[in-house]
Amino acid sequence: MNILGIETSCDETAAAVVRDGREVLSNAVYTQIPLHQPYGGVVPEIASRAHVEKISPVVSEAMRCADVKIDAVAVTYGPGLSPALIVGLNAAKGLAKGLGVPLVGINHLEAHLHTPFLHDSPNDATRAYPDPMSLGLTLGLTVSGGNTVWVEIPSYGSYEVIGDTLDDAAGEAFDKAAKLLGLGYPGGLKIDRISAAWLADATDEPLVPFPKGRPREGVAALSGLSADLCVSFSGLKTALLRHVHQNPWLVESQDGARDFGGYVVTPALAHVVASYQEAIVQALADRTRTALRRRRYEAFILGGGVSLNSRVRAVLSAVCAKADVPFYTAKPKYTGDNGAMVAGLAFYRRNHVDDAMSLDVNPSLGIGE
Ligand code: KG4
Repeated sequence: MNILGIETSCDETAAAVVRDGREVLSNAVYTQIPLHQPYGGVVPEIASRAHVEKISPVVSEAMRCADVKIDAVAVTYGPGLSPALIVGLNAAKGLAKGLGVPLVGINHLEAHLHTPFLHDSPNDATRAYPDPMSLGLTLGLTVSGGNTVWVEIPSYGSYEVIGDTLDDAAGEAFDKAAKLLGLGYPGGLKIDRISAAWLADATDEPLVPFPKGRPREGVAALSGLSADLCVSFSGLKTALLRHVHQNPWLVESQDGARDFGGYVVTPALAHVVASYQEAIVQALADRTRTALRRRRYEAFILGGGVSLNSRVRAVLSAVCAKADVPFYTAKPKYTGDNGAMVAGLAFYRRNHVDDAMSLDVNPSLGIGE
């Protein structure tokens, strides 16, 4: 079964065709990052205009490259930016009607958790990208620009939230820090590369002890979740701000600046960047370790834009190895927003399409809702 998936929840206009839920036949992504860069973040009005302009060429490219008969159309209907989601949903409705095929509405967060199962050809379907139906009780972590959420997946397609962020998502914490440190937007990849280069220098200098994002027990924002399985990055952001105010030369001086992972910065700034990243990585690792200790999971799956982070991958994979739980994450090209994750998940959701044509966007849709 070939499904066309459409994704326009934020700043990527994306479409893809996936066969039987896992084999990606085509994957077209138009990223709007350069349009939003001057504003230091995504501007919803600019995003929706760009989606309107690009949706048609992107969908055409995905269909042309796959060159197969489409059996269903899938689309992200939430969470995300309302004006952006509407563009994708309307395009998907038109296509499904025109092609005379069912429409499947997909939750963006659940789609990110489908990325570890996507592969590019039947030969590529190695043990690294397993069949989700073959997994038993699974722990999932979606870590992106808008979310940092741990879920328990008793059987594929059902999700129970067991941990969350009380404020910023990890990707947001990366982006805000990059902005503050003058590294531009978006910041995750730059912070990743600079940190990797600084850590590779293997200096003995200890990292700046930034707070590790642990929420206080009993705060109302936990909404019944255990503090041990949640993160709060607002204190980390404030600590970085304070550190920069106390050491203004960090962002003002270029003395001794050299190449760190493709970016020219001072060793002192690279040190702060690596320390900040490590605080986020250790927060994610600590909560994941706790979750793996609480129950016997058969697998751990990691999805979302931040899952591209080399240190996040290395540390979480080590946490899983220690707990003797298989670790699965996506090929790098499927970590950011894309249509393949939408089309792929839809294969497992195609029975839930009764009144899909009356589907509306839900910008604040939660995982498992
Ligand atoms: O999943 P995504 O493309 O969009 C959302 O659904 O939010 O994630 C985008 C986020 C941004 O915050 C970006 O800075 C972050 O993912 N990101 C990274 C890396 N690559 C992208 N964060 C850390 N390390 C990376 N290598």
